Amino acid sequence: LAEPAIPGPLAGRHALVTAGPTHEPIDPVRYLANRSSGRQGYEVAQALAALGARVTLVSGPVDLPPPTGVTLHRVETARQMLAACRDALPCDIAVCAAAVADWHVAAEATRKIKKTAGALPPALTLVPNPDILADLSTPGPNRPALVVGFAAETDTVEQHAAAKRLAKGCDWIVANDVRPETGIMGGMENEIILITGDGAEQWPRMGKQDVATHLAERIAAFFTPDFS
Ligand code: CTP
Ligand code: CA
Repeated sequence: LAEPAIPGPLAGRHALVTAGPTHEPIDPVRYLANRSSGRQGYEVAQALAALGARVTLVSGPVDLPPPTGVTLHRVETARQMLAACRDALPCDIAVCAAAVADWHVAAEATRKIKKTAGALPPALTLVPNPDILADLSTPGPNRPALVVGFAAETDTVEQHAAAKRLAKGCDWIVANDVRPETGIMGGMENEIILITGDGAEQWPRMGKQDVATHLAERIAAFFTPDFS
């Protein structure tokens, strides 16, 4: 007989992770999107599963293999991502690593918009997308015990991220500096500042997989203070 699996510190917990960009259609062939490889979110999903959590990963379009031992829901738009997240509730942990498009096109064209010689380019009217992190952070019976957001910033990273934590109502923010010269966006490494209610911690630069492992361990310690 096989040895029973050693239950990890997150056994019995359900974790919801968002990852990747969203695509907001303009017409059947064009869309608006954010830059995101999805790598950091996929690594977080995998790391939480490795500690025993049941993980639901809601992912926008990415070019990554599905993580093992994780339930994957693929979505395209922010509105679909929100719906998939709400469907996944209740959960104990939510980690919003997705680079959600902030707007969608008010009137998606059902047919391809054609260029017309001499005519002005089409004007796009944008409307705000739902904020999934803020939605999951809203107090109520379904609010996860721990909600973690990410903040991609190019200036005064810590201040912007700390303000974002309060604005969204989440518990922690993982802040990173996405100025192109850092190579973080699209790269394999990350350098983060973890902002909790107790303050800010600068972590050394490390691989995205290591960031995910350390973050998952911090999450486990939140639920089981003896775990380290
Ligand atoms: N987020 C979300 N839904 C949105 C926008 C953002 O869930 N519609 C989440 C992201 O997954 C991330 C956090 O909110 O965890 C911060 O995203 P970010 O784009 O840095 O912040 P915004 O509030 O959108 O502010 P801005 O883009 O203006 O800096
Ligand atoms: Ca944004």
